[in-house]
Amino acid sequence: MCGIVGYIGEREAYPIVLEGLKRLEYRGYDSAGIALYDGQDIKLSKTKGKVMDLEARVDQEIETNGTVGIGHTRWATHGVPNDVNSHPHYSNSGDLVIIHNGIIENYESLKQELIKRGYIFKSDTDTEVLINLIEDVKKNENVKLGKAVQIALNQVIGAYAIAVFDKNKPNEIVVAKLGSPLAIGIGENEFFIASDATPFLEYTKKAIYLEDEEMAIVRRKKGVKIRKIKNDSLVAPYIQELQMNLEQIVKGGYEHFMLKEIYEQPHAIKDTYRGRLRAKQGIIKMSGIDDNIEKFLNANRIIVIACGTSWHAGLVAEYIFEDLARIPVEVEYASEFRYRNPIITEKDVVIAISQSGETADTLAAIKLAKSKGAFVFGVCNVVGSSIARETHAGAYTHAGPEIGVASTKAFTTQITVLTLIALKLAKEKGSISNSKFHLHLQELELIPSKVEQALKSDPHIKIVAETYKEAKNCLYLGRGFNFPVALEGALKLKEISYIHAEGYPAAEMKHGPIALIDEHMPVFVIATKKGHYEKVVSNIQEIKSRKGKIIGIVTEGDTDVKNLADHIIEVPETLEILTPLLTTIPLQLLSYHIAVLLDKNVDQPRNLAKSVTVE
Ligand code: AGP
Repeated sequence: MCGIVGYIGEREAYPIVLEGLKRLEYRGYDSAGIALYDGQDIKLSKTKGKVMDLEARVDQEIETNGTVGIGHTRWATHGVPNDVNSHPHYSNSGDLVIIHNGIIENYESLKQELIKRGYIFKSDTDTEVLINLIEDVKKNENVKLGKAVQIALNQVIGAYAIAVFDKNKPNEIVVAKLGSPLAIGIGENEFFIASDATPFLEYTKKAIYLEDEEMAIVRRKKGVKIRKIKNDSLVAPYIQELQMNLEQIVKGGYEHFMLKEIYEQPHAIKDTYRGRLRAKQGIIKMSGIDDNIEKFLNANRIIVIACGTSWHAGLVAEYIFEDLARIPVEVEYASEFRYRNPIITEKDVVIAISQSGETADTLAAIKLAKSKGAFVFGVCNVVGSSIARETHAGAYTHAGPEIGVASTKAFTTQITVLTLIALKLAKEKGSISNSKFHLHLQELELIPSKVEQALKSDPHIKIVAETYKEAKNCLYLGRGFNFPVALEGALKLKEISYIHAEGYPAAEMKHGPIALIDEHMPVFVIATKKGHYEKVVSNIQEIKSRKGKIIGIVTEGDTDVKNLADHIIEVPETLEILTPLLTTIPLQLLSYHIAVLLDKNVDQPRNLAKSVTVE
């Protein structure tokens, strides 16, 4: 997620905007920039790196006087992290500057049209396209900045929180919001703009939070005028008195980053398929796959390499790829793969999965696979990370920064990307029917709202957590697509509550683990209606007959498991291959609540690092 900050008022803008960018550092970013207006001209400085690097660069490059300023911390989505791709971006004339948080899905087509009209582009970003679209509208329609922004945004598909400044209209900043957050701080003859209130909380506790498809003209003296982007209708501003303190705002009002990130999953999944999934047209657009489709279709097999939660996502991918695309898949722990002298050929396609893009074992395994001629495709969450740069091609998850050490939204967004790839390959191979393909696209589009639905069980899950927080050992069982989710649920509990837990294929119980079952053993069983449901129910009966405590993760409305289990947690119905995106939610919340009840350090568990960059 990018961070945006702006100021217009009577004070020097630079220190306010710079400090504001520092307040947004928690959002994670790879570059930063600032634009100031000194009454004559716009002065702009930006750099790859941290806000402190920007500060050093500003000292070298520009005068910092001026009472209007906008600043940005970039979390790259389009275009690798470098100085040119950093924000703010000028329009071709140099009269306009923009900062943007979000993704413009149709930026390529807009860019081609603008190039035909003589616009040139220095960066690879969608944001530079947007500011030149605004400039083009402003010139051709002969309208003011606010109107130009409104007309331009009605041509845009995607998500944005933007701030735009015109040096010929120095007493106003134009902002707009769709899908990304934007707050306006209301001071005395001064106004603040930011992704959240942290940059201006020390100056004012009065804030307006724009709603989606709203824009505002923020004028130095006249204040804030809000309009609907679609129809220009005026919106009465609702000024809130902020109650949260700084730390609470950084965590979005949640107690921990992990809980915030669990709740971000509907948005993160939607951002991940945004611009890729077009269910109505029956299209999946992924340039990394499109450009290398033959390699995938002609591959002898796909080898997935990853660690931890990413390995669990890879195991889900094995089931999905083989079921849909009929391509043989092997899933390897990167730490094992790199040392076991594996057989790799040019006919192999390797998919490396990593949230951080910096995991040493995964990076080493990639280099080994490349050295033996394999084509390596990366699925990472950090643009420009080592693994993203080492792989031949890739597809980013757009989960935004994941601060909590325990991976949550990275897991569901990885599965989203992998499902899109599997569906795309299956369509290309003709291994699934058109109708089945369309059905999966339509259902995938419903997943964010179904995750929202699954999250509503949170209060109930907290009660279940209270019941089992003293357990010394737990078992997690699942079958088929949900066997990897059982492994993931066990890992979540282990790493943040320090309770020993094991994930197992449900049918495997009778080959040993059932000896562990007694009245002290909670068994979390994923028993959704899809996929060998009856067999899982019989596994549950085996556990019950040995006095095991059963917590069933079931499809809404389930009664069979409800009659057998000590507790059930419901998730909405969906297609079998998409159930992992829903069944993992209660297991994430369960581990979170148990860890909180045990007073553990949820965001930074003992002995763990967010990214294991050493062996
Ligand atoms: C998961 O909750 C852990 N934080 C850990 O297993 C993690 O998934 C693993 O270290 C891999 O990290 P990566 O996805 O950044 O490569």
